[in-house]
Amino acid sequence: KFPGTVTIKEVGPRDGLQNEKAFIDTEDKIKWINQLSHSGLKYIEITSFVNPKWIPALADAFEVANGIERVAGVTYTALVPNRKGLERALEANIDEAAVFMSASETHNRKNINKSIDETYPVLREVVEDALEAGKSVRGYVSTVFGCPYEGAVEVEAVVRVAEKLFEMGIGELSIGDTIGLANPKQVQNVLHVLLKRFPADRLAMHFHDTRGTAMANVLASLDVGIATFDASLGGLGGCPYAPGASGNLATDDLLYMLEGMGIQTGVDREKLFSAARFIEEKLGRPLPSHNLQVARGC
Ligand code: HMG
Ligand code: MG
Repeated sequence: KFPGTVTIKEVGPRDGLQNEKAFIDTEDKIKWINQLSHSGLKYIEITSFVNPKWIPALADAFEVANGIERVAGVTYTALVPNRKGLERALEANIDEAAVFMSASETHNRKNINKSIDETYPVLREVVEDALEAGKSVRGYVSTVFGCPYEGAVEVEAVVRVAEKLFEMGIGELSIGDTIGLANPKQVQNVLHVLLKRFPADRLAMHFHDTRGTAMANVLASLDVGIATFDASLGGLGGCPYAPGASGNLATDDLLYMLEGMGIQTGVDREKLFSAARFIEEKLGRPLPSHNLQVARGC
């Protein structure tokens, strides 16, 4: 009853690196993304065209997007918060723009400096212009399972944002557990509501593993027909405007579970490991995923 094939969307170069204090050299980012491109991943979020004052770790977005090899069949996407970001992203010829906002008012304001209502016209313009430029657009809704500032988030608030974003023309919506609060029961409750309104193949799940529930949440999502998951190699990452957020679900751990369940991903484990070793060396520290620990013999 689980999907036979799952798409893993690698967000490490964006969600993973955005929180790093040390600036990873542009050339190293490019080499890392090129390795990821050759690992069988079909979708990589490579950077973020936000204000570099807010996210200095990704201040080289243009150079990264311009410098990477474009492997056929791989979609290269980047976060885009507004028209200025889209202009930079189009200049760098990204394949897809990812717009983002939160289901909770305070996180939205802290993250993008606008109320939820003020955000809609800004994103509408980005979505329309990106589509007109021939790009696909993905949406993110953050704080779906709880907000670091407001606590519980009503599922109706998530539905409102989702409806607006789909109505603007996004192709897929990624459902964000920004600070890793969700549990499998809550995931199925939220998906039960969302799947009444939106088809499963238009939804992706974006779990952070702050409290160790990400993999269980993947299983709960697979169980109700979701077949697209965001993940970050080695579990790198966090959100700088979400205190307590830690890394995303680790791509290598996700791959291990899916392979074992006989679910196809097209990703080559050895190539993924060697890309992980490369970025670990550049970061100067081991990444936290279980499978990298096993591979290190810990
Ligand atoms: P703002 O300060 O309100 O923007 O920021 P503004 O329009 O008032 O402009 C102020 C200055 O920013 C101006 O420069 C603009 O040119 C510049 P100045 O005149 O002062 O020199 N500016 C830009 N520069 C470059 N690129 C741009 C851009 N826009 C304005 N695109 C803004 C609003 C949205 C830009 C800001 O709040 C921002 O950059 N926020 C990004 C925060 C962020 O990246 N957070 C992490 C990603 S979200 C996440 O991690 C969650 C997710 O993973 C899902 C989940 O886990 O739930 C996606
Ligand atoms: Mg995230």
